[in-house]
Amino acid sequence: MYLLEVVLSAMVLILSFIPSSNTKNSTYTNPILPGWHSDPSCTFVAEVDNSFFCATSSFLTFPGMPIYTSKDLINWRLASHAFSRPSQVPQIGNTTLQDAGLWATTIRYHDGKFYAIVCYTPLSPFVVTGFIFTTTDPYDDNAWSEPLSFPLGDIDPNLFWDDDGTTYLQFSGIHQQTIDLETGALGNASIIWTGFTEFIPEGPRMHKKDGYYYLMIAEGGTELGHHEAIARSTNIWGPYEGYSGNPILTATNTSNYFQTVGHADIFQDASGNWWGSALATRSGPAWENYPMGRETVLVPATWKEDEWPVLDPVQGQMNGWPLPPQTRAIRGSGPFVEDPDVFDFPPGSAIPSHFLYWRFPPKDAFAVSPQGYPNTLRLRPSQSNLTSSAPLSTISELSLIMRVQTDTLFTFSVDVVLFEPKIQEEEVGITAFITQTQHLDLGIVLLPTSDSTSNGSTKLAPHLRFRATNVPGLTGDFNGTVPTVIKTLPEHWLNAPIRLQVSATNETHYTLSAASSTAPWESEIVGIAPATILSGGDGRFTGTLIGVYATSNGGTGTTESYISRWRYQGKGQDINNGTFVPYSPFVGSS
Ligand SMILES: *[C@@H]1O[C@H](CO)[C@@H](O)[C@H](O)[C@H]1NC(C)=O
Ligand SMILES: *[C@@H]1O[C@H](CO)[C@@H](O)[C@H](O)[C@H]1NC(C)=O
Ligand SMILES: *[C@@H]1O[C@H](CO)[C@@H](O)[C@H](O)[C@H]1NC(C)=O
Ligand SMILES: *[C@@H]1O[C@H](CO)[C@@H](O)[C@H](O)[C@H]1NC(C)=O
Ligand SMILES: *[C@@H]1O[C@H](CO)[C@@H](O)[C@H](O)[C@H]1NC(C)=O
Ligand SMILES: *[C@@H]1O[C@H](CO)[C@@H](O)[C@H](O)[C@H]1NC(C)=O
Ligand SMILES: *[C@@H]1O[C@H](CO)[C@@H](O)[C@H](O)[C@H]1NC(C)=O
Ligand SMILES: *[C@@H]1O[C@H](CO)[C@@H](O)[C@H](O)[C@H]1NC(C)=O
Ligand SMILES: *[C@@H]1O[C@H](CO)[C@@H](O)[C@H](O)[C@H]1NC(C)=O
Repeated sequence: MYLLEVVLSAMVLILSFIPSSNTKNSTYTNPILPGWHSDPSCTFVAEVDNSFFCATSSFLTFPGMPIYTSKDLINWRLASHAFSRPSQVPQIGNTTLQDAGLWATTIRYHDGKFYAIVCYTPLSPFVVTGFIFTTTDPYDDNAWSEPLSFPLGDIDPNLFWDDDGTTYLQFSGIHQQTIDLETGALGNASIIWTGFTEFIPEGPRMHKKDGYYYLMIAEGGTELGHHEAIARSTNIWGPYEGYSGNPILTATNTSNYFQTVGHADIFQDASGNWWGSALATRSGPAWENYPMGRETVLVPATWKEDEWPVLDPVQGQMNGWPLPPQTRAIRGSGPFVEDPDVFDFPPGSAIPSHFLYWRFPPKDAFAVSPQGYPNTLRLRPSQSNLTSSAPLSTISELSLIMRVQTDTLFTFSVDVVLFEPKIQEEEVGITAFITQTQHLDLGIVLLPTSDSTSNGSTKLAPHLRFRATNVPGLTGDFNGTVPTVIKTLPEHWLNAPIRLQVSATNETHYTLSAASSTAPWESEIVGIAPATILSGGDGRFTGTLIGVYATSNGGTGTTESYISRWRYQGKGQDINNGTFVPYSPFVGSS
């Protein structure tokens, strides 16, 4: 099994380095940014490394506002996070509602600078603030500015520069106003188009072509009724004429595996071919089981002079314009999106840049190879556990560190190298997490032994505990409860690292298991839970994250734990309701 994987990965690596012919149409597979990568905005920048850049939503995760880059539209690498310092958006630290936070970054390049515009809302109250971050170096978190902030009438801001230098801001409604990028001063907002169905017009994109202003928008809500529509005008303030062929992109009323298609953007590559990016959910029309949430897909587009753009429908297996030659020689601070994780936290290394926290982590919660504990990640527990009092008002910081689940099938494991809990309920564990009200946890936790109460004194011992958190019928698409499982840790496991593992071996269930690292083949399944717990509910706009936590579960424990051997391995992408492709989306040229 292992050998086969090595061989397969090696083949994929070799394939990815074969330059594709530049003249024939290509085939590739969606999604191009698998796993939770919602609300994409993409652009091509010839001036900066002839590269494509896409931004996606981050909600409550930190660092946030990820920017991905590619030279071939296939190999995507994390370039940077526009939001990497709490000072940039301190509100994230006290945002309680699990689907609130930073939504829908639009990335644009103008006059030597990148602009990332985003909106923040705590949801209750529904007050929206716009933020604009800038940089001349998209490959460095620290190079992104402190943001310019301004009040915003609604969500999904977009920037557009006209030829006369005026800068326009569009947002849901669809509203438009001028904006001064130095001062944040805003002109009066007016509604320029209410859309094709006039139902939830949002996600505007403005493009000028052949004397027309083209306004592309998402409609119908980001669920099964989602679709993309377009209108044009010779005057930027309108009136806008809707296209008779609307919607220009949708999966509504189809049986496609890729649903909720919309929130599109359109851009041109170096050869002049057009492409569209959009979000989609791999759920089929049942739209019940989709733990990876809304992902980023790519479609070929055709946009002839004076005509309306045509976007090819979203499928798992795509055929379209020739792709630029495959290359991994691209700059960026993070890994390629589809690479496995192999991290042992050696001294001097940093926390990998694609690792995410839920809001801001407690100060000093994590340390790589602290004194005396080389090749480990030290976790200092938070008093709050992953659920704590969410989504109610108390804000508590969490010792929780994760990465995006980027594959339909995957295996994630870490070794708990050292954990000597002293106080009842001290815990270290792994989680498949979509929100604080929807998560699956497997922890090592100090609990009373079964024989401990017979004579009045409490004897404590480390146990394995599996807990599935959901509110049946309310948070998530699973309308039931999964019982907690507690098992005594086998005595002979105690003197070696303990391996905790979570995997999706099929699309409907997650399996959480434990083993002694000295005999990982003798692993014990502790819990199995349906993936629908990680679909819908508070998590309907985001997607599953996989990682590690430490907590005293509300108690006074402060025992630190040390983990290592962090491994994430994709085991297959479903691209059409049961049709799997292995680790790379690249198939070849046709
Ligand atoms: C949240 O934090 C922001 C920024 O520090 C602050 O302006 C705001 O008043 C806080 N809101 C609440 C409800 O505490
Ligand atoms: C905005 O509208 C108000 C009221 O209609 C008007 O007085 C003001 O001059 C307008 N401002 C701009 C910048 O157009
Ligand atoms: C889906 O079908 C219904 C009923 O035929 C129709 O009214 C609606 O416009 C369709 N939606 C889209 C986005 O095509
Ligand atoms: C996907 O496949 C399952 C059976 O494997 C079937 O029940 C379901 O209807 C299919 N969905 C779509 C959208 O084809
Ligand atoms: C190449 O792809 C484009 C975009 O999808 C399509 O319009 C064109 O027909 C394709 N050409 C061939 C020869 O398949
Ligand atoms: C009570 O039980 C614990 C654990 O079984 C044992 O260590 C302890 O000595 C007992 N105490 C008394 C007073 O019997
Ligand atoms: C969940 O179960 C409850 C009680 O059986 C029922 O009233 C409710 O309709 C169910 N909800 C869903 C979404 O199935
Ligand atoms: C999926 O995996 C779970 C856990 O191993 C198992 O219980 C379930 O039967 C599997 N489902 C199918 C359709 O194989
Ligand atoms: C979280 O901690 C609280 C006490 O602070 C406890 O009541 C609850 O059971 C814990 N839940 C989970 C899922 O960790």
